[in-house]
Amino acid sequence: MAKKHILPDRLKPGLKLVFCGTAAGRQSALQQAYYAHGQNKFWSTLHRVGLTPHLFMPQEYEKLWELGIGLTDIAKHAYGMDHQLPKDALGPEAVAALKVHATVEEELFYPAIRQQIEDEEGIMDEADEEHHVAKLLIAELENMTGDEDHGDAKFMVLAESVRHHIKEEEGTMFKEAKKTDIDFEALGSQMAQLKQRLKRDGVPEDAEAKMIAKAGLRGDSPAKNAQKHVHVPLKKAS
Ligand SMILES: [Fe+2]
Repeated sequence: MAKKHILPDRLKPGLKLVFCGTAAGRQSALQQAYYAHGQNKFWSTLHRVGLTPHLFMPQEYEKLWELGIGLTDIAKHAYGMDHQLPKDALGPEAVAALKVHATVEEELFYPAIRQQIEDEEGIMDEADEEHHVAKLLIAELENMTGDEDHGDAKFMVLAESVRHHIKEEEGTMFKEAKKTDIDFEALGSQMAQLKQRLKRDGVPEDAEAKMIAKAGLRGDSPAKNAQKHVHVPLKKAS
């Protein structure tokens, strides 16, 4: 049986804005409400910038849907501050979510945009390559047992490159997409359906996973290997 989420996802097609935290805090888990710690500025900030008509109590979080705002967290089965989360709280869930997200984009969103824009600057090709690199890292992470010393570094690099990718999508691709006649409401619900199917049936093995399965994980990095025999010139003591 699937483990229960600490806080329910508040996601649905057609939202204008989605806030994604790392994981629910302790107070939020106890009170069963998003951003419930007394000192958390989330709700007051939403009100101050005009996103909510009055200052919402954390327990009113479900009402954000009426304003086109969704809520979720990367880690759904652990709570606490980032440094308190168990080592495996973020990795497997984030990786599974990324695989679903990338597949949905590649099967529906990217083809729709490609069909409707000229793309002289090659933003779609660049996005494809960013997906390719992310999927290689994901495939390597999925083949790791947890004992490899590059596991954490690999996950950090994956997180950084995904952050860069999202920034590019939001800054360039989405702006171009908005100029087209695409019905994003309809496309969004197709994407939501596909997402549900992939979550239920799993994401089919991609080319990158096959590459890594064939090549296997490398051992020490070249630099780590070379440090065993390299002669380092050191400053002479004066
Ligand atoms: Fe993407």
